[in-house]
Amino acid sequence: MGLGLDQIIDLRSDTVTRPVPEMRRAMAAAEVGDDVYGEDPSIRRLEERVAELLGKECGLFCPSGTMSNLIAVAAHTNRGEEVWVDSEAHIVHYELAGTAVVAGVQLRNFDAPNAGCPQSEQLLGMRRLVDPAHEPEPTLLCLEQTHNRRGGTVATLRDLDEAARTARGLGMKVHLDGARLGNAAAAMQVAPRELAACADSVTFSLSKGLGCPVGSLWVGSREARARTHVWRKRLGGGMRQAGVIAAAGLWALDNQLPRLAEDHQKARGFAEAVADFPGIQVDPLAVQTNIVLLQTTAPAEQVLTSAERVGLLMVAFGSHTVRAVTHLDVSRDQIAQAADRLRAALRET
Ligand SMILES: Cc1ncc(COP(=O)(O)O)c(C=O)c1O
Repeated sequence: MGLGLDQIIDLRSDTVTRPVPEMRRAMAAAEVGDDVYGEDPSIRRLEERVAELLGKECGLFCPSGTMSNLIAVAAHTNRGEEVWVDSEAHIVHYELAGTAVVAGVQLRNFDAPNAGCPQSEQLLGMRRLVDPAHEPEPTLLCLEQTHNRRGGTVATLRDLDEAARTARGLGMKVHLDGARLGNAAAAMQVAPRELAACADSVTFSLSKGLGCPVGSLWVGSREARARTHVWRKRLGGGMRQAGVIAAAGLWALDNQLPRLAEDHQKARGFAEAVADFPGIQVDPLAVQTNIVLLQTTAPAEQVLTSAERVGLLMVAFGSHTVRAVTHLDVSRDQIAQAADRLRAALRET
């Protein structure tokens, strides 16, 4: 087809967005200092704002969501302990077993089709007899909201709170991977802090639907921040005049956070447009946020190759599962074109 780069429709992820001119202007104007000395005013402001948004005492600016999750796990646990997490969680699939390599913990999975949120009975069923001579101590439950591999789905406040209460009853802390917590809040029409209330610590990403070039925040208690701060430095995540990127985050909180629901409408629209294509299965009503999972009759890799030939990029999420993500850099018109291109690609698959 010979399409130029600007004609490609990229639905691989919401991380592919490029900072818009106004965001770049905010970055250029940022007040900065050396954050390893705690002297970057833009970072301080961003940490305070996200902590306030999520109803926690304080925040810590990190280069990535992966680092924020990792330092959260490391700060909540001791080596040899156990972390309970959904089998489809991002921490399990895409963070290179960092929790084992760095924090020295064992991940134990439950299978929670409800947006990765376990039922109390599931958690209670995972208890072992107390035999410290043989059994690792479970000390942390990790949740994820929205849940990426489960199709950008959201668990209800009630389910999250119940899971967290049960975990606490078992002596565990709770970490919430809220890389897309803004999407969850928009979809559920609740304040982000209501979703964060179930957790002791939260990861919140700027580089996904919020359109920043880089950055995630860990938020939690002041006492835990002292430990996550040590872990971030140990991992090489101490940054200097990073107020330049924090300024992008501050700008995005004002200008991008309020528009996330538009991405959800585009995702639903895409699912509706392709739902009756032969070779595709998707329930548009199951699309809750900006992630669409398509079940494909042909192998996912074949569908992706054909789609790429006609200028549509998506990713495989399984042998017969393709993920498409809507974001700031795809318009409604492009979503309609993406559906046309997928129809053409399926004919060639
Ligand atoms: C749910 C979830 N958590 C964490 C991350 C990791 O974020 P990063 O790519 O900034 O490391 C991602 C990235 O896509 C994600 O989808």
